[in-house]
Amino acid sequence: MSFLTPNKNSGPTEEPAADVATGARLLPRITIQAFCEHSQTAELVESAVHDRRMSKVALTTHNGGLEGAIESYKSNPTPNLIIVETSLPTGEIAPALDRLAEVCDASTRLIVLGHVNDVLLYRELLRSGVSEYLILPTSAQSIVNAIADLFAAEGAAPIGRTIGFVSAKGGAGASTVAHNVAWAISQHLRQDVLILDMDLPFGTAGLNFNQDPPHGIADAIGASGKVDPTMLDRLMSKAANHINLLTAPAMLDKTFDHDERAFEQVLELAQKTTPVVILDIPHAWTAWIRHTLATIDEIVIVAEPDLANLRNAKNLADSIKALRPNESEPLLVVNKIGVAKRPEIAPKEFATSVECKLLGQIPFDPATFGTAANNGQMLAEVAANNRANDTFKMIGMHVTGRIAPEAASKASNLKLPSFLKIKKAS
Ligand SMILES: Nc1ncnc2c1ncn2[C@@H]1O[C@H](COP(=O)(O)OP(=O)(O)O)[C@@H](O)[C@H]1O
Ligand SMILES: [Mg+2]
Repeated sequence: MSFLTPNKNSGPTEEPAADVATGARLLPRITIQAFCEHSQTAELVESAVHDRRMSKVALTTHNGGLEGAIESYKSNPTPNLIIVETSLPTGEIAPALDRLAEVCDASTRLIVLGHVNDVLLYRELLRSGVSEYLILPTSAQSIVNAIADLFAAEGAAPIGRTIGFVSAKGGAGASTVAHNVAWAISQHLRQDVLILDMDLPFGTAGLNFNQDPPHGIADAIGASGKVDPTMLDRLMSKAANHINLLTAPAMLDKTFDHDERAFEQVLELAQKTTPVVILDIPHAWTAWIRHTLATIDEIVIVAEPDLANLRNAKNLADSIKALRPNESEPLLVVNKIGVAKRPEIAPKEFATSVECKLLGQIPFDPATFGTAANNGQMLAEVAANNRANDTFKMIGMHVTGRIAPEAASKASNLKLPSFLKIKKAS
């Protein structure tokens, strides 16, 4: 049965789709890895980056096709989108994709480039959760169209995961943990991270990444709901590979009394353009903070192990749980453990009292953290072997929905990868 039909939904298209609606949109800052069998296919996929829509996309091509992908993801994190070429015969493609699904994270999407022109196979693959099956030879434009349909179409789910860090008491280390976790995510997942410094008068994201850009988050929320992706782009500063900042002005020439929804549009936009959005939330309790906490994906409370932090963390956790009964519960990081001569509450006890999952424990290490802060560097840059880096990585894996390395093997991931999950459900 041939399916070279002009109807896009009933079979794979070989002709470039003249879909101007999606064609006009820039793709978000996603990471794409392609595993090809033939060098011509790799060249074809590589040529897709010349498409204007791909300007923010990080795309790499690798050898080895489907088997290469399976091997690679046994030990490497998966990107937002995998493209695999396969010349396997019809009956062997789905089982091989199942093996790939086992080593992929839940949010990863998959486009298959195949050599078999068979509508039944096409339908089976889509049913099993493969996002698109394109028959080779195809054009770079068809590949970009398929990617755009997934990530930039009207109504496409926002790709960004929003993770807020808030301290139980000023100085407990929410900003420090937020920035270092962002760094860990960018390094280990190689995904783009945007840090929003929401502490407009006093924020330290700029200082901590040694950046002093002329624009930042104040311009975005000051644009009274008229921010668009291009403007947001101009206001961001690139702190490192895969890390962008919207810095706080940290000026006291005016007061900052935001209304409840002041950050809503910026957050929405950020989520549409960047896979991981880290919110560095100041220690305060205002209408806009409460509203923000109610709407984001994950919340991490950072606390020092003393009584005032305990009381505040408990109140915060209770309020957050009440605000969002159906969302994930707040997580706890106990920071600055072991300050000399200070009587401290044991982290486990602390977590039990607060009734939060204890996600991480970080020792008090003024020499290393102080050097990092003064240099405008991340902890991993000044002390690569410091164990706190493992904690930051583990927190990052957890809040992005990846499993913590020591928790389990990828195969036993609680969340099934999307292209397996759909199959299981049907
Ligand atoms: N584990 C730690 N050991 C030593 N100093 C730390 C640690 N964590 C954070 N700090 C320092 O504590 C200060 C306050 O941290 P910050 O992240 O700004 O707190 P918050 O955002 O909660 O107000 C900073 O100078 C930071 O370098
Ligand atoms: Mg802070």
